[in-house]
Amino acid sequence: MKSIRKAVFPVAGLGTRFLPATKAIPKEMLTVVDRPLIQYAVEEALEAGIEQMIFVTGRGKDALEDHFDIAFELEATMTSRGKSLDALDSTRMPAGSVVSVRQQQPLGLGHAVWCAREIVGDEPFAVLLPDDLMVGRPGCLAQMVEAYGKVGGNIVCAQEVPRERTASYGIITPGAQDGRLTEVKGLVEKPKPEEAPSTLGVVGRYILQPEIMEILSSIGKGAGGEIQLTDGMAALIGRQPFHGVTVDAERHDCGDKTGFVIANLALALGRDDVAPAVRAYLSKLGL
Ligand code: UTP
Repeated sequence: MKSIRKAVFPVAGLGTRFLPATKAIPKEMLTVVDRPLIQYAVEEALEAGIEQMIFVTGRGKDALEDHFDIAFELEATMTSRGKSLDALDSTRMPAGSVVSVRQQQPLGLGHAVWCAREIVGDEPFAVLLPDDLMVGRPGCLAQMVEAYGKVGGNIVCAQEVPRERTASYGIITPGAQDGRLTEVKGLVEKPKPEEAPSTLGVVGRYILQPEIMEILSSIGKGAGGEIQLTDGMAALIGRQPFHGVTVDAERHDCGDKTGFVIANLALALGRDDVAPAVRAYLSKLGL
């Protein structure tokens, strides 16, 4: 079984739910406490053993690449002023480990993943959507890679979602269950609550076999007029092993304002440097 060395980060979306914040900066550069969403996702990937990060970007998204580059002037100025560069440590990536490719038009998540086909090549790979901030120990992708070691094939991160929200997710038709692993018998993108085959939703982490790329090149537009990753994955079911893994992690949907605010609060309360002041403020509000 080939190990998972590469991860694709589709970051070419328009982020319209977050306007005006995302008019001039990428959604993935919005910060939770003191680091942008993309950094949480990259750190999660590194922890899972990923060696190459592939950003699928679009126009106006250069900040994402700059964030993982050496900021020469900043570092030189800080050094000359005797300031520590420790805060920049986790943004310095080994040379050549971050590559990017452009999705020229935001035609959908499936199309974004397909844009990385030449860099992914003929090996299994991970996909991480940075606006799904996953908080777990070990990290969400590390848990999925462990599951991959047992069953191989394709793996999606699965979470129970409220029935009234099925139209916001890819939903699994579940088969046999074994602990945290559920066999995936079918996948449907954004079904209405009354048509959803279950309430087991797919959230933004995937381990996929390279054959998905060929499928994505030939499928047409699906829900919302976009080329859907869910439709591509559905075509792999029956041809290759396909499982959902219910990870032990909390998900914050940071593509949504409420989820983003809650993520800031949750992560701030977990940080020794900011939690006391945040707690004091909450108690002043009587919360
Ligand atoms: P979303 O469905 O959240 O879309 O994409 P969006 O455009 O980012 O945001 P809204 O809905 O307009 O507010 C899920 C993920 O897929 C990526 C996004 O960047 C995000 O990480 N994506 C989506 C692409 O890279 N390209 C696309 O064409 C669509």
